Amino acid sequence: MKGIVLAGGNGTRLYPSTIVTSKQLLPVFDKPMIYYPLSVLMLANIRDILIITTPDNAGNFKKLLGNGGRFGINLSYAVQEKPNGLAEAFIVGEKFIKNETVSLILGDNIFFGSKFSNILKNSVEYIENKGGGYIFTHAVKEPQRFGIAEIDKNQNVISIEEKPEKPKSNYAVTGLYMYDNNVVEYAKSLKPSSRNELEITDINNIYLKKGNLKTEILGRGFAWLDTGTHESLFSAGQYVQTIEENQGIKIACLEEVGYRMGFLSRDDILKQELTSSDNEYYTYVKNLVR
Ligand code: G1P
Repeated sequence: MKGIVLAGGNGTRLYPSTIVTSKQLLPVFDKPMIYYPLSVLMLANIRDILIITTPDNAGNFKKLLGNGGRFGINLSYAVQEKPNGLAEAFIVGEKFIKNETVSLILGDNIFFGSKFSNILKNSVEYIENKGGGYIFTHAVKEPQRFGIAEIDKNQNVISIEEKPEKPKSNYAVTGLYMYDNNVVEYAKSLKPSSRNELEITDINNIYLKKGNLKTEILGRGFAWLDTGTHESLFSAGQYVQTIEENQGIKIACLEEVGYRMGFLSRDDILKQELTSSDNEYYTYVKNLVR
């Protein structure tokens, strides 16, 4: 399975913080936001990853992440010229996806919860063996702001609506999606919505109509955090700080994830030129393998 991180958008809600940089490069506590979704793809054992950015910010993502070798992954880059919607990622990424299955994650989505690796492993296996689409849902307080899934008691999806005025449930479709290779053709067949975007919800509805859409409900012990406003960005940072300081572990430390997934050896990490010893993040990485 291939992976795509979509880090587009103008980030206007976070102006002035995002006038000269991308939202997905802003820090969430002790690391740039994009580290969090990247760690999710890595935990799903995905190593070929395309990062889609705005034309203005592509250079800074490359400076930050390079070819991914530091984390044991292969990164490539592409540009979405305009914020034409999430589903456009599969059109921009067509050559990268080739004939494989693909997972898309939004560059501003933060997931954290116990046993997440197992959930990811099962969903990747499902798509690779059975095809179709896989979405991950999570309860939210303001369902009008999201794609909302109506789910029956056997966890079958009944309907999905984008930002409904009268939501049929409070289960939001989170920004992590897995699909078989048909997604590229489905994306090309879409017409722009009333907000002039190619909607991921329309893709999910195609799979749903064909009876090919699975969902996993991420339960109440699971955190799915929004970073779209100053308030939510600030609370996401506080959440990460609380967990990290309480447990002495880091969330989304990409060197650690690469090492634990077996993408990097101890030597691969030790021979990296990490920054000076007064840097807390890199001291953590070094101590981990020592
Ligand atoms: C997008 C999707 C929506 C989904 C949300 C998750 O919303 O359209 O279905 O629930 O991401 O973050 P947008 O960020 O475009 O408002």
